Amino acid sequence: MRLCFLVEEQYRHDGMPVDVIRQLTAWGHRVDVLRPGSSLIALSETVRAGDHDAWVLKTVSGGPGLTLLEAASAVGLTTVNDARSIRGVRDKALAAVVGEARGLPVPVTYAAARAEEFAELPESLYPLVVKPADGSSGRAVRLVESPDRLPAPGDADTASGMLIAQPYVPNSGVDLKVYCVDGDLYATERRSPLHPEQPARERHVPLTPEVARIATEVGAVFGLDLYGVDVVLGPDGPVVVDVNDFPSFRRVPDAVARVAWAILRLAHAGGQQPGEFPAWPAPPAPPVLAVGGA
Ligand SMILES: Nc1ncnc2c1ncn2[C@@H]1O[C@H](COP(=O)(O)OP(=O)(O)OP(=O)(O)O)[C@@H](O)[C@H]1O
Ligand SMILES: [Mg+2]
Repeated sequence: MRLCFLVEEQYRHDGMPVDVIRQLTAWGHRVDVLRPGSSLIALSETVRAGDHDAWVLKTVSGGPGLTLLEAASAVGLTTVNDARSIRGVRDKALAAVVGEARGLPVPVTYAAARAEEFAELPESLYPLVVKPADGSSGRAVRLVESPDRLPAPGDADTASGMLIAQPYVPNSGVDLKVYCVDGDLYATERRSPLHPEQPARERHVPLTPEVARIATEVGAVFGLDLYGVDVVLGPDGPVVVDVNDFPSFRRVPDAVARVAWAILRLAHAGGQQPGEFPAWPAPPAPPVLAVGGA
């Protein structure tokens, strides 16, 4: 197959996606890498040429990568994940509204252009978690105990873009990160960035049926195939606080090969080829499957 990966500078040396690209290449597939934001891209030519079976996005929120992926999608090329689905979760405000409307357990969410506007919210909703709507990697996520502790006007972290605020869901300080690779679910525990007092331990844990059901539902609601769900276990049960397209898949067994295999399967399915592409685990010597060429 011929794949086009959009990889942002931040992930240039990360195992996810660099090792995935290496794995695909080792299996005999061709992978072209575009670096939106750090190199000149012959946009029209690349999209118009249409000589890739699928485009894959591994970029930060708010960067130019998603626009490129949307361009590829708009001219009918297959993308992994679906470009509109990625848009739906990269905006945390949009994701919260859609999640709630579709019955997912998400916190009540407020949006504002400036943090001081959250001072209008009743004190009973505090403590609040305030974060950028297009945030990632824990950037500028804050626990705000009371209205007088809201970030000051012009605060560098919160000065640009839309912000969201949610009541803090009381929890142990350890997140459940649930990863989904083409229908298969895995869970790990990791310290919440709001709880630096917790040990930095990270480990694979079994999934409860309830969390598995919620994580599967997240995929269906947002239309994602490769995704991660951040869950906190609150007093009333699991709550979804974030959904990420193409996350790190840290601690997922055989993550590189699984994700690479999933990309091939999804690219194959998107090309409307008959569904003969085998599911994971891959056969011992994975075949080099051709879709319309190499
Ligand atoms: N409403 C909430 N109640 C309790 N904890 C929350 C809430 N929202 C976020 N958190 C905590 O803050 C963490 C970071 O929030 P979020 O995932 O939205 O930001 P992020 O920038 O995407 O971070 P990351 O890339 O680490 O996932 C969550 O994993 C969770 O531990
Ligand atoms: Mg998150």
